[in-house]
Amino acid sequence: MKIAFVDLQRQNRRYRKAFSHVFNQTLKDSIFVEGKPVERFERQFADFCGKKYCVGLNSGTDAILFALLAYGISPGDEVITAPNSYFSPAMMISQIGAVPIFVDINPKSGNLDVSKIEKAITKNTKAIMPVHLCGQSADMDPIVKLAQKYRLSIIEDACQAHGARYKNKILPYTETGTFSFYPGKNLGSFGDAGAIVTDSKKIRDSALKLRNDGSTKKYIHTQFGYKSRLDTFQAAILSAKIPLLSQWNKNRRQAALLYNNLLSGIKQVKTPIEMPYVYHIYHLYMITCENRDGLQKYLESYGISTVIHYPIPIHLQKPYRKRGYKPGMYPVTEKRSKAILSLPMFPEITKKEIQFVYKTIASFYAV
Ligand SMILES: Cc1ncc(COP(=O)(O)O)c(C=O)c1O
Repeated sequence: MKIAFVDLQRQNRRYRKAFSHVFNQTLKDSIFVEGKPVERFERQFADFCGKKYCVGLNSGTDAILFALLAYGISPGDEVITAPNSYFSPAMMISQIGAVPIFVDINPKSGNLDVSKIEKAITKNTKAIMPVHLCGQSADMDPIVKLAQKYRLSIIEDACQAHGARYKNKILPYTETGTFSFYPGKNLGSFGDAGAIVTDSKKIRDSALKLRNDGSTKKYIHTQFGYKSRLDTFQAAILSAKIPLLSQWNKNRRQAALLYNNLLSGIKQVKTPIEMPYVYHIYHLYMITCENRDGLQKYLESYGISTVIHYPIPIHLQKPYRKRGYKPGMYPVTEKRSKAILSLPMFPEITKKEIQFVYKTIASFYAV
């Protein structure tokens, strides 16, 4: 049996009619940049997140960049974030000349260890950027408390957490969050796309200018900006998908539950821990396991695709090594990076497929 890590073809076959309609409508209208579909999606996604504004952009990476700029993060400022994420949050902090200050993760949640944040705060700290990894919210209340105490901004990287909740409130929990609509995300477009979602008009206005060459009125440029608009077609596709998102998240949760039940009998495997304060939307179903590389190869030989998120912690990537980061600095992250494995997870994955993944894992460990 061949099991893709994320089977987008299955979803696209199922909704082919609806998606073809969006494509045909875009051809008919022949408006490819800006226009009504972008406004419509921005309204829908802001409402979905319970926020006032959404600004569509061409990636989650740009959403992070623009959020940092909109909050006035400048060269030399320090931004606290986790070292076990995708590269983008740290990269964009560094790109603007600010400094990512890594804080190790909680071994249970895999998100920022909130008990270690205060020690990392200096007079240069301007913001905290928690990453809601795998679709599970970071522990936000302690972060909010620290941000209030030290007058710091919070920018939530919710690129993996569309529809996830913290204490029953949909993310972003605080004023502003960034999202990616990369095709494999829980809400994914047909190319690169992203957005900032915020309750602040100031942040929204700033992002609107930044995405459009420093302009909100044609040919009038009031500042330098970037070219990072959400394509009209992507917006229309995302609009068609948004009504399906909550059910897709439920399907993922059901799949995770089945994986948990089956895998709980294998002592070499630890299933993901759902923290008591979250509604986890399982963008990734990430186990930790013994002999991870052996298991990954074994699964591959049976047609089961898996991915490691992420094999090299951010501080050990070349650009940060050059800045003096060394192995041993974030031991929880480093230990975890050697044991994690993300199993196939998508809303349409079947019971049979999950059972096959389980049986193959069990046979690897000779259970
Ligand atoms: C946690 C996180 N942050 C940021 C990004 C960047 O998003 P994009 O690929 O849309 O630029 C991703 C994408 O995978 C991500 O997972």
